[in-house]
Amino acid sequence: MQQTEKKARENWGSRFGFLMAAAGSAVGLGNIWRFPYLTGMNGGGAFIVIYLGCILFVGLSIMLAEFAVGRKTGLAAVGAYKAQNRNWTFAGALGVLSGFFIMGFYPVVGGWSLAYMVKSVTGLLAAPEAIGDYFGAFISAPVEPLVWMVIYLAINIFIVAKGVAGGIEAAGKILMPMLYVLFIFLIFRSVSLPGAGAGLSYIFKPDWSVVTGQTFLAALGQAFFSLSLGMGCMITYGSYLNKKENLPSNALTVVTMDTSVALMAAIAIFPALFAFGVEPAAGPGLVFVVVPQIFAQMGGVGVLFSVIFFLALTIAALTSSVSLLEVVVAYLMDEKGMERKKATYITSAIMCVMCILSSLSMGALSGFTIFGVGFFDFFDILTDKIFLAIGGMLLAIFVGWFMNKEELKQEVTNNGEVSFGLFEAWYFMVKYVIPVLIAVVAYTGITAIAQKSLMIFGLLVIVVLAIFSKKL
Ligand code: PHE
Repeated sequence: MQQTEKKARENWGSRFGFLMAAAGSAVGLGNIWRFPYLTGMNGGGAFIVIYLGCILFVGLSIMLAEFAVGRKTGLAAVGAYKAQNRNWTFAGALGVLSGFFIMGFYPVVGGWSLAYMVKSVTGLLAAPEAIGDYFGAFISAPVEPLVWMVIYLAINIFIVAKGVAGGIEAAGKILMPMLYVLFIFLIFRSVSLPGAGAGLSYIFKPDWSVVTGQTFLAALGQAFFSLSLGMGCMITYGSYLNKKENLPSNALTVVTMDTSVALMAAIAIFPALFAFGVEPAAGPGLVFVVVPQIFAQMGGVGVLFSVIFFLALTIAALTSSVSLLEVVVAYLMDEKGMERKKATYITSAIMCVMCILSSLSMGALSGFTIFGVGFFDFFDILTDKIFLAIGGMLLAIFVGWFMNKEELKQEVTNNGEVSFGLFEAWYFMVKYVIPVLIAVVAYTGITAIAQKSLMIFGLLVIVVLAIFSKKL
């Protein structure tokens, strides 16, 4: 079955193809929508410094570890763990579950982006003062955001059911560079607005007094989320990677691309935010409020730029959500022998229900909570604050303690052909430092966070998975 899996799914034709796919998975709503608002909610510069520390000391090493595990086994998440050690199947299963839950809210935001692309033309920018209120009204409406979410999800289904990423990859190749250019342009506009200086010092002058245990957990979770780590996505992508590819340099490239987009988004947004007097802690609406306001100041061309921006954001989101859906579909195909189309339809039908609940939790269902939070936050916090970090920790323990060091070295250095002087340092990080670091951050974060019952629920899910994993 594993053989057919490898044939049935695409293989990276070129280094560029792989890089685009991996970077496409990494760069998404996490960088442009989530990173700026988390920065705003966690106090600005200090959060960014901690985030960069998480990327450098944890994210980069885990990225390389996931690529190595994937390429070595040639299998997707669950299979890769299982092939090495059956007791570890649950760690792969946790990844699949994470992908599933992230898809319980990601398409909702993808739908917002799609909607804003159209709304840019239909008058959103005409009344700059009303943009903030408009967003609140839009996402809490009972029907309209659902329609956009369904359209967004349908595009995902279409792509994954076909099993080809051709179209989206082609679009990505044009729109991703365009996104970079647009951001550079946005940054210039933003920093030249009157009052922009306050925004720059907000993100570049860390205020350490606002840092708590939660800040670290938020930064760590965001690092995993943004880099698509801790859930087997990069294991799966690595499994299609050619034996000649240089893993450390690919890992570095993907991480650099991802981080640069996140930083550009922050540098574009915060100066404008202060210039327009928006609250830094405005939350999930930040990009949807501040960016249209910048464009609205520009008259006619602003409309065009706004359309391109939200189109690019939608494409960035699509290349990520497709990878999320693919992780779940690949599991059902590989391990349960399900046919691709069937797996895609069944999975996305359930995701659609979760997304409906998430979207409605912004309005009609706002009074309804589970573990003290609405559905949207439930899926978000559960994955980003627990599952991904624990998933990353499990991967580090697995690689450090359950895989053969010599074999790993052969894999990472392509049997000695690639020189990787930092191998020992990397191995030490993965084996000792990262598991302890994540455990400490998770512990302090969980004890500081308000949603304790949700955290306990999440941990219980992991224990239950570990107990029943033999069946998976
Ligand atoms: N990294 C993606 C983003 O930033 C989200 C994602 C998480 C995708 C986990 C795949 C796996 O939007």
